Amino acid sequence: IAKRVFKTREITSTNDVMLKDPEKLFHSGDVLWSLRQSKGRGRYDRVWNSPQGGLYFSILFEDIPRLSAFYPYVLLCALAIRNVLADRTREDFFTIKWPNDVYADYHKIAGILIQSHTAYQGSRAVIGMGINLNNPMQHLSNLRSPAISLYELTGNPTEPESFLEDLLDRADAYYRDFIHLRFSHYLPELNRVLYSKDKSLILTEGKHQRIVIPREFTKDGYLKCEEDGETVILMV
Ligand code: BTN
Repeated sequence: IAKRVFKTREITSTNDVMLKDPEKLFHSGDVLWSLRQSKGRGRYDRVWNSPQGGLYFSILFEDIPRLSAFYPYVLLCALAIRNVLADRTREDFFTIKWPNDVYADYHKIAGILIQSHTAYQGSRAVIGMGINLNNPMQHLSNLRSPAISLYELTGNPTEPESFLEDLLDRADAYYRDFIHLRFSHYLPELNRVLYSKDKSLILTEGKHQRIVIPREFTKDGYLKCEEDGETVILMV
């Protein structure tokens, strides 16, 4: 992946544009990066504020058999973001919150949105990532939960090109492992960085809320939790 990176100043949403793509400009593995988005979206159709300073991009995948078969790779994308942040800051407090947000302690620093185009029936999918890199405090992308940017954490601006390059290198390496069925090799590492592991967590799914205790990721990329004293498996 990421042999071709398209960069633009402003776009509605990198996910939308890559998914629709009536001219078939984009091919599998291509990356679309925008400095700003006027209609950035998050999960449950929430608005993802996308001012200058954040990193917003999507990767296109063609010929996907089923979207669900792809979820483990979305987790690996979260791990890639997590690990680039950890490497650059030399901090270990970055975690992955189910299903695929990245947290710095108790603050959201990045989110991922996977979507497929109905007309392509799951054979075409995009993974969009939004990372609060240099966003100033008052413009943070996700105002629902406490959010933070890398700039606020470190006090230093980050060069988006080099961050994206590091991230795409990792996402590519993880993709090779994923297609060679080596997702399970990452389980110990994923479980080490699971947000709220063994502690009560309120999950908001649209209007619905549930309280669970996350235990571990499964080999299918699901989350094993405890809920009301019973073991439950959360799927995206
Ligand atoms: C979430 O936290 O709910 C997911 C946020 C995903 C945001 C990214 S930014 C690039 C891509 N384009 C979008 O419109 N959304 C994703």
